[in-house]
Amino acid sequence: MATLRIVIAGDLHGQWDGLDEEVLAALAPDALLLVGDLSDGQQLIPKRLTRLSLPMACILGNHDTGRDASGRTLQRQLDLLGDLHCGWGLRELHPPGLAVVGARPASAGGGHYLNRAAEAVFGPVGLEESAERIHAAALSADPHLPLVVLAHSGPSGLGSGAADPCGRDWKAPACDWGDQDLALAIDRIRRSRPVPLVVFGHMHHRLKRGQGERQSFSRDRSGTTYLNTAFVPRHGEDPQGRALRHFSWVEFEDGVLQEVSHRWFSHGGTLPYRQTLFRAEVA
Ligand SMILES: [Fe+2]
Repeated sequence: MATLRIVIAGDLHGQWDGLDEEVLAALAPDALLLVGDLSDGQQLIPKRLTRLSLPMACILGNHDTGRDASGRTLQRQLDLLGDLHCGWGLRELHPPGLAVVGARPASAGGGHYLNRAAEAVFGPVGLEESAERIHAAALSADPHLPLVVLAHSGPSGLGSGAADPCGRDWKAPACDWGDQDLALAIDRIRRSRPVPLVVFGHMHHRLKRGQGERQSFSRDRSGTTYLNTAFVPRHGEDPQGRALRHFSWVEFEDGVLQEVSHRWFSHGGTLPYRQTLFRAEVA
């Protein structure tokens, strides 16, 4: 059986160091995905990512604009990442044999809204056009490869409570803060092929105003799994003072999703903590 091990880094917010790279070197996953908000527009992390020798795909988030409305800071990140960035496009990874389709770059969620930086770089892309770009990218993928949709903000439709995967928690009333263009695109893609996995970040796991923790996992009736990987801050240490680095972990076997978990690694790729979100039933 062909097992595919995918590691996903949630919103970095500047947290990326030698220990992250040591963990990845020890794990040697089949692919690394990043959901954006690498930093606030600094160039250091994109440069480090390009030096990794792993099959990789990335989408930038709203923070990657660096609050620079001219779009120049966002464009600099895009230039540094080059082909690694798959916003509104397809990135097929060979090896291991994985199709990654990027959603709308630099999204801040909230339905469909392009901030000024994104509009300066990409032009005024409306909801329908954005959905169609994502849909077209997925249709151009090799149908034999497992498909992962990579987004900064997740789709709308995953619930309107503060603790839902894309729920607004920072202001009452809570509401669905997901992206409508992405939800529309997923719906269209599924008319042609299954979408086993959608990964995203943006809405952090720890809810504002002391409301507890966010649901980071959801699965719908069509068999699509949604994973919010934004465990922020992703660098920490346990009570013994051991340094921890958070990554999400996904396994496919022969194209079928087998496992989804949050994992906290330490030196040498050891795994002191794991939260399993999904495991396929053994037939
Ligand atoms: Fe974000």
